Parts: sequence; structure tokens; C-alpha cells
Amino acid sequence: MTTAEAGRAADPAAYTALRRQDPELAEVLLGELDRQSSTLQLIAAENYTSRAVLTALGSPLANKYAEGYPGARHHGGCELVDVAERIATDRAKALFGADHANVQSHSGSSAVLAAYAALLRPGDTVLAMGLPYGGHLTHGSPANFSGRWFDFVGYGLDPETGLIDYEQVRALARAHRPKAVVCGSIAYPRHIDYAAFRAAADEAGAYLIADAAHPMGLVAGGAAPSPVPYADVVCATTHKVLRGPRGGMILCRGELAERVDRAVFPFTQGGAQMHTIAAKAVAFGEAATPAFTAYAHQVVANARVLAQALAAEGFAPSTGGTDTHLILADPAPHGVPAAVARGRLAAAGLVLDTCALPGGDGRGLRFGTAAVTTQGMREGEMARIAALFAGAVREEDGVRDAVRELAGRFPPYPTVGTPGAAAS
Ligand SMILES: Cc1ncc(COP(=O)(O)O)c(C=O)c1O
Repeated sequence: MTTAEAGRAADPAAYTALRRQDPELAEVLLGELDRQSSTLQLIAAENYTSRAVLTALGSPLANKYAEGYPGARHHGGCELVDVAERIATDRAKALFGADHANVQSHSGSSAVLAAYAALLRPGDTVLAMGLPYGGHLTHGSPANFSGRWFDFVGYGLDPETGLIDYEQVRALARAHRPKAVVCGSIAYPRHIDYAAFRAAADEAGAYLIADAAHPMGLVAGGAAPSPVPYADVVCATTHKVLRGPRGGMILCRGELAERVDRAVFPFTQGGAQMHTIAAKAVAFGEAATPAFTAYAHQVVANARVLAQALAAEGFAPSTGGTDTHLILADPAPHGVPAAVARGRLAAAGLVLDTCALPGGDGRGLRFGTAAVTTQGMREGEMARIAALFAGAVREEDGVRDAVRELAGRFPPYPTVGTPGAAAS
């Protein structure tokens, strides 16, 4: 049985019905299931949601218009979706120990947009990690609303260590007196010292916005420090290590709640996507379990082993390793540019991204262990992945088959009765 057939067997009625109605699209869905099951998803921002999350996403809540907030909607018939949104916000507040949660942001970028809208005026100065060092597009890219509407000052990373230079952050905050300081990155593999950022923001009289899109799932599982006690506003995605549906969320102190809510709706968004909000509630419920705590710690243990094994294979990990799910490695010692290495890895079924290396001089390979850990892989499999990784970059024979064999032993959506976290 192929993996796609195994997925079909898991939910035969839905796939049979779709295939009968729309065979062209059914082939795309089944093909993607097969791709996700027969290759390894090492993209640091990806994961496999549970079937319960997928069920909420595919539920009739997708049909419901619900502008506004629970108890104050602009549409009728919101009694039940109101319950779903209250469950989601209550679970998010409890999970992260926050005064207030807004779970309506359609994406991580929308959450950051709303955070800026809540706290800033166009033209304000904002201090954030520079894009060549791992800042996100929403941290001042000229191609993004952030760079167009605000005056961004970028901090960098120590060229020797690849670590955040907190003295530089403080000096820039003192010199530029920003209205907000942003901490968070698309590629920083170490824990962030939120207290140091709070101190820098306080010295400048600035708000502190934590864009914790990447580590938020580790925070939920107690495997990374929480920005919540330090930041005025915390933005996050729900689909990375947190393992929920694609979307965003915002946490904040009680006195900012109304400003944040109004910044999401009606300022930057219209109707909330109630099926996604219900799926976020399911994911927050899962993230509150001891199983998720164990998962988050295993994600980090796996990333550490993978980083170490790759270092032994000659891929220098930025900062010398990782505290998180994320690894940024330089393939230069193999004499292969990152884009070429990514192509060879993809051909072997190892799917990942390239990303700027600290210092902005060249690109590296960015990858993570969230998805493979959800599949049930542990330290032994990480050592195997490192060997396959090196073999793929060196264009050795047989790597694609070996990756397929490894992936096949850890199906992300196994048939009922087969072990695997994503099926739970
Ligand atoms: C730090 C950071 N902020 C914001 C985002 C944006 O999230 P989205 O792609 O959901 O808009 C990302 C996505 O990877 C991110 O890493």
C-alpha cells in the first residue's frame, strides 16, 4: 500500500467523495499527502497537525461569518462560534499565563501588523533585528508594510558568535529612542533574553513587542523561556512547533486588550475565520497536555543531536548549535552554495529552506525538528538524517531511497491503530 493509499484508508469516505466530485483536485490533495509522507519536512516553520485540528478546519464552522468578538458580533447565528472563540482565548490565556489573548489574526504577519497598529503611528521609529541577520519581513523590509510605514533601525548579531549583542541593542535604543523594540527572528537558534530586551526598551521609554512566531510551541511545552512576563505585546503563529492550524495570535497585558482587539478587527481584518479559531482551540488543548511537554523537549533534544551530527559532517551550525527546534548551517565547507545544497537535498527528499547567515555575507541552510519529532523520530533517527543530509549534498547514490524508507517507518498520518503523534 502506498502512503497516499494509507492516508485514504484512514479517511476513505472523504477522499472517495472528493475524488468522485473533483478527481483533478483530489489527485492534488492525495499527491501532497504522499509528498508529506514520503519525504522529510525539515522546514523549521512546518509541522503536522493532529487529525482533530484538521477536523476542526474542515468543519461547517468554515461557513460562518462572524465579524466582531464573542457577544458583540455584526452577524446573527454566532452563538456556537462564540463558544469556540471563548474556548480558544481561555485556553491561550491559561497556556501562556497571559492577561488577554486575541486569536483572530489570520497569520503571523497579520498579528505583527495589528501589534504595530495598536501601539504605533506611521512614521514612528522601531528597533528590530535587521533582515540580513534574521529579522522577519514584518521587521522593516522595504517590500513590506512595516518598512513602508515605519522608520526601522536594525540591530545585528555578534560576527564572532552569531549571538544577539545586547549591549548593541541597548546602545541603539538609547541613541534612536524608538517607540517600540521588537525581539524575535526567523532563524535565531538560541533562547532570547527577554529581560535584557525589556531593560533596553525601558531605557528608551519604548514598548516591547515579542514576535515569538518560532519558539511559541516550545514556550507552551516549557522548553523555552516565555516572553509573556516581559513584553507588552506578544505575537505568534499557531502552526510552527505549536502544531495548530496556519494562523496567528496576540497576547498582551490587560490594559492593552481593547487597543489590540480593535487593531485586529476592525482596523486590519474583517470577519474572523471561525473554523481556524476552533482548530486553534483544539491545538491549545493539545499543547496543555503532558504529552506535548514531552514533545517540546524532544524537539529540542533532537535538534541538538542533529546540529552536533551535522557539525561532525562539516556543516558549521551558526552559534555552534541550538537551544530550540531551529538550526542554521553553512554548507560552504562542502564547496556548495546554499541554493545548490537545498536543491540536492530536495531531490533526496529532505525539504528545507535557505536563509541569510549572520553578518549578511552569504546564505545558509535553515531547518528544524518540529515535524520529524511529531512523526515520532528521536535521537537515533537524527543521527541517520545527518548522514543522509551529508550524502545528499555530496550527491551520493541511494539517498532518496533511504529517505523514503525512513519516512515510511514514521507515517505522519498513519492508519488507525498505528502509533504516531499526528494521528492522536
Ligand atoms: C518571526 C516571524 N514573524 C512573523 C512570521 C509570519 O508568519 P506568517 O507567515 O504566518 O505570516 C514568521 C513566519 O515564519 C516568523 O518567523
